[in-house]
Amino acid sequence: MKLSIIGTGYVGLVTGACFAEKGHHVICVDNDSAKVKVLRGGGIPIYEPGLEELVSSNVAAGRLRFSESTAEGVASSDVVFIAVPTPPQPDGSVDLSFIERVARDIASAMTSYKIVVDKSTVPVKTGENVTETIRRYCRAKVDFDVVSNPEFLREGFAVEDLMKPDRIVIGVGSQRPVAAMREIYAPFDAPIIVTDINSAELIKHAANSFLALKISYINAISAICEASGANVQEVANGIGMDTRIGRRFLDAGLGFGGSCFPKDLSAFIKIAEQLGYDFRLLKEVQRINAEQMDRFVKKIADTLWVLRDKKIGVLGLAFKQNTDDVRVSPAIELCQRLLKEGATLRVHDPKAMEKAKAVLPPSDKVAYVDDMNAVAEGCDALVVATEWPQFKKLDLDGARRALTHPILFDGRNLFDVKEMESLGFIYKSVGR
Ligand SMILES: NC(=O)c1ccc[n+]([C@@H]2O[C@H](COP(=O)([O-])OP(=O)(O)OC[C@H]3O[C@@H](n4cnc5c(N)ncnc54)[C@H](O)[C@@H]3O)[C@@H](O)[C@H]2O)c1
Repeated sequence: MKLSIIGTGYVGLVTGACFAEKGHHVICVDNDSAKVKVLRGGGIPIYEPGLEELVSSNVAAGRLRFSESTAEGVASSDVVFIAVPTPPQPDGSVDLSFIERVARDIASAMTSYKIVVDKSTVPVKTGENVTETIRRYCRAKVDFDVVSNPEFLREGFAVEDLMKPDRIVIGVGSQRPVAAMREIYAPFDAPIIVTDINSAELIKHAANSFLALKISYINAISAICEASGANVQEVANGIGMDTRIGRRFLDAGLGFGGSCFPKDLSAFIKIAEQLGYDFRLLKEVQRINAEQMDRFVKKIADTLWVLRDKKIGVLGLAFKQNTDDVRVSPAIELCQRLLKEGATLRVHDPKAMEKAKAVLPPSDKVAYVDDMNAVAEGCDALVVATEWPQFKKLDLDGARRALTHPILFDGRNLFDVKEMESLGFIYKSVGR
C-alpha cells in the first residue's frame, strides 16, 4: 500500500522502515529539514538496534523515501499516519498543538479520500477533535476517516517490537477504513483488535500507566526489602513466576523515565480529572517513582558524607539500555542532582554521550569518557545509572584499583551482591 508518516522520530522512522520492509511504499515526512537531510544522505538521526540496515535496504529497494513536505506525503499515499510529539505541559496535560498543526496540513493537502491514522499517544477524545479539524480545514471537502492506531514499541527494541507486535489496536468511527488497516498489518501476523476510537486511545494510556504502576510497585517493595534485609530480586522472581503477574517490569532501580511513561502518566491523571475521576492510584505511582530517586541519592550522600568536590563516575546516561534517548532520563536526573550538590562527574554511555551533552549543563565539572573502564580513574565512587548489558563486563578489578576507595552504587542491580563484596567493594544496590 502507499503510506505516508508525518513525523520521522523514534516512532515514525521505525514504523516507516518496518512498513517498507513488509512491502509497502512509504514516504516519511518531517518538518525538521536537518533531519530529512541526514536521512536523505544515508544517515540515521537516532540509535535503534537494526534500524540503520532496515532503512538503507528499503531506501535502496525504492520503498522508503523522505520529504519535508506533508502535502507531498498526502498526495502520494492512501493512508497518512501521524507520529508527531505530544509533549507534556507544565500542568501535566498534553500539548496537542503538533497534532492540530499536522491535522490542518493534511486537511489542506487532501484532494481525494484518505485514511488519517493517529499513531501518536493522545488523550481520549483527541480523534474527535482531529476529525472536526480536518473537516473544517479541508477545502476540497472530500471524504476521510480518522483512525486511532496507538504504538506500543519499546525504545531500544523498536524494530523487534514493530516487526513482531503483541497486538495491533485499530480504533475506528466507521467500518470503511478497517479493510485497508487490516491489509497494512496483514504481513505482521499479529492479533488485530478493532475498537471504537475512544477505547483505542484509552488502551494506550491505560497500558503505559499499568506498566509504570508495576515498576513503582516493585520499587516500593524494594524499600521494604532494604528495611527488612530481604532481596527484591528474589521477591520479584517469586511473584513473577505467577503467570497472572509475570516477571517483566518487576526490576527495582532508579525508577522509570523516558519520553513516554512520565508524560503519559501525568496526561492520564489529568484526563481522568477532566472527566471527573481523581486517579489517586496513579498519583501514588508518580510519588513512589520520585521517592525512589530521592532514596538513591540519599544512599550516595550518606555513604560519601559530603558530596561537594567529590569525583563520581557515572555509567549510563540514556534512560534505559540500547538507546541514545536521554529524554527524562533518570541517569541524567541523577547527574544533575550530584552536580547540584557540588560533585564533579566522569560519565560514560555507549550511545547517548552526544545527546547527554545537549541536556547536561556545559561545565568543566563533567568529563565525558569514551572507555567505560576508564571512568573510575581517580573517582571517590562509581554509580551504575543505566542497565546497559555491557556494564556487566566492566573490569571490576581495574575499577577497584582506580577508585580512591572501592565504593560502587548500583542503581540497576547489575552485579551480584556477594561477588562484589568478595571483590572488596562497598557495594550498594537497590532493595538487596
Ligand atoms: N518514543 C517511544 O518509545 C514511543 C512509543 C510509543 C508511542 N510514542 C508516541 O509517539 C509520538 C512520537 O514520539 P517520538 O518519540 O517518535 O517523538 P520524536 O520527537 O522522536 O519524533 C517526532 C518527530 O515529529 C516531527 N514533527 C513535529 N512537528 C511536525 C510537523 N508539523 N510536521 C512534520 N513533522 C513534525 C519532529 O521534527 C520529530 O522528528 C508521541 O506521541 C509519543 O508519545 C512514542
